[in-house]
Amino acid sequence: MSKRKILVTSALPYANAGLHLGHMLEQIQTDVWVRFQKMRGHECYYVCADDTHGAPIMLAAEKQGITPTQLVDAVRELHLADSQGFLIGHDNYYSTNSPENKAFAEQVYKALRADDKISSRTIEQLFDPEKQMFLPDRFVKGECPKCAAKDQYGDNCEVCGATYNPTELKNPYSAVSGAKPVLKTSEHYFFRLGECADFLKGWTSGSSTRADGESQPHLQPESLNKMNEWIEGGLQDWDISRDAPYFGFEIPDAPGKYFYVWLDAPIGYMASFKHLCDSKGIDFDAWFKPDSDAEMYHFIGKDILYFHALFWPAMLHYSGLRAPTGVFAHGFLTVDGQKMSKSRGTFIQAKSYLDCGLNPEWMRYYMAAKLNGRIEDIDLNLNDFVARVNSDLVGKYVNIASRSAGFISKRFGGKLADSVADTAILHKLQAAAPELAAAFEAREYAKALRDVMALADEVNAYVDANKPWELAKQEGQDARLQEVCTVLINAFRLLTIYLKPVLPKLAEGVEAFLGVAPLAWSDADSLLLGNTINTYQHLMQRIDPALIDKLIEANKQNMQATSNAPAAAAYEPLADTIKIDDFAKVDLRIGKVLACNFVEGSDKLLQFTVDLGFEQRNIFSGIRSAYQEPEKLVGRNVVVVANLAERKMRFGVSQGMIVCASGADDNSGLFLLDVDQGAAPGMRIG
Ligand code: MSP
Ligand code: ZN
Repeated sequence: MSKRKILVTSALPYANAGLHLGHMLEQIQTDVWVRFQKMRGHECYYVCADDTHGAPIMLAAEKQGITPTQLVDAVRELHLADSQGFLIGHDNYYSTNSPENKAFAEQVYKALRADDKISSRTIEQLFDPEKQMFLPDRFVKGECPKCAAKDQYGDNCEVCGATYNPTELKNPYSAVSGAKPVLKTSEHYFFRLGECADFLKGWTSGSSTRADGESQPHLQPESLNKMNEWIEGGLQDWDISRDAPYFGFEIPDAPGKYFYVWLDAPIGYMASFKHLCDSKGIDFDAWFKPDSDAEMYHFIGKDILYFHALFWPAMLHYSGLRAPTGVFAHGFLTVDGQKMSKSRGTFIQAKSYLDCGLNPEWMRYYMAAKLNGRIEDIDLNLNDFVARVNSDLVGKYVNIASRSAGFISKRFGGKLADSVADTAILHKLQAAAPELAAAFEAREYAKALRDVMALADEVNAYVDANKPWELAKQEGQDARLQEVCTVLINAFRLLTIYLKPVLPKLAEGVEAFLGVAPLAWSDADSLLLGNTINTYQHLMQRIDPALIDKLIEANKQNMQATSNAPAAAAYEPLADTIKIDDFAKVDLRIGKVLACNFVEGSDKLLQFTVDLGFEQRNIFSGIRSAYQEPEKLVGRNVVVVANLAERKMRFGVSQGMIVCASGADDNSGLFLLDVDQGAAPGMRIG
């Protein structure tokens, strides 16, 4: 197998708050891939850094009464601890606020300028006269020009979904000082992206040949479609400068002008790698020259595709450097099917997960078990998390060792049999290696782990068929017992090799237990026979579900502490457009409340008896928090989803749903709907 040179990055987190589980999803996806490549024997480096520049970070520091440098230095320590806590094996974790990054930013800019790819022109922008600064889009708020919703950001409306310029907002105000912004002109520098269209058409739809001869498409099919749309729509020149005051690098020959944070952010990948090269004696230029045989991959979230699939390759190419080999985008993490929410406690900070005593490998396993090579959102279902880790990871895999190791130590002085006749199961496990490798390579971790667990099932069937605990009681079965347990220890070793990219620490424990050198992928070709192994110590606990409650509680309390980030959206984003027929499917009726009571054993539910005119319904509704005196609801009208499938609940069957209004934030309350005088139970709403 030819040795590949592979540089891997994950996106540089903003240096304004701790990492959350969404960030960890990305870093875990990247780390699993990197560890896999290293196990394959390739020369692979994983670099990352903090993204430190920009107005939001400058303003956050000011709010805390410290300098931006103090803020980003402190946050970097937090981020490092978060990543290390989740066993992310960065080869270097650097900062965009570094001398290397400044030098590369200037180098790239000057090269682009020399190639006539930089233009300048005067633009008009909103300026905060009190704060004496130009306002980034997100720091101007006002009424949506389309739907008049209040308190919308300067770039898009979260109520109606419209996008616009901040200058179009009605009654705009500065989110920094509250002052009414004024229009002011300023000279800006632009990267002439329109000039790069031909290159980008080729690059986005193209592929590179790897050192092992395989072809690697630069983009996933979904990304390519998106890029085609954007390229077809016409590429706008990209504004890369910002005026002082700004936390960032000053542009050469342009006093008072700074590089926009998104210019020096991806250059931060280079800076972090350069810093690593200097400490390890790696030849940086060989990795970044245009015809380099090294591969470069960026793992990113779907929200920053534009920067990585258009700006970044163009910046690299036109400044005489190599372009990426692949941009691997992933979807967003949701928790229990919904966007992470601070008020629900599902905006889970990486630190709080670790502080609650949850094992990082549980989350690595769960996330890997859901990840694939496509751009799909990934749901962390907390019940499923507990169930899968306990039944699959611990129940199926870890138990193989605990069911066989004791006999080897107690009965055979820790010595494995010199040979085994039962090779069928082991050969089957060994034969799976190439397909599992292909799945890891393609970032189809969910498939890899499904296959590994199917193999574990077969091993457990072997345990049940051979019953070592019975052999142990039988006279004259010693050799057989040793053989069966040797097969099981070998099976466990092979499964450990396949799981090692996901579970590096557990694998380390297994290596110590088996008394072997760090396991590489190629170790799956051999078996462990005649060796003496160490006493088995339990490798992993099951998850106690009480820890999950603790975690949610901790993150609810965190809400206050972390709310120095830009204010959360006050409105739910608008749902996808539907046809009238879609709406007609929902049969809404007026219902009259005949009875309403607390539900014993539930602090969330109220039980309603509702008259729909043609029949009465029993309905449970989770609105107790908002209606503490249920008897007061008797006699009023409500709106009922009358054709909703019945739902069996712990307390009885719920025959429909009572609708109520609520904000994007749980703290905004719940409000039942009423109807004007004259409406009668059973009337249809539509
Ligand atoms: N600083 C930029 C990236 C610059 S890269 C040159 C940035 N930072 S971020 O902190 O907002 O996000 C870092 C990464 O985390 C991005 O890839 C982003 O998509 C990812 N995620 C942030 N929230 C996420 C989820 N809820 N789920 C999955 N990934 C998420 O963007
Ligand atoms: Zn609007």
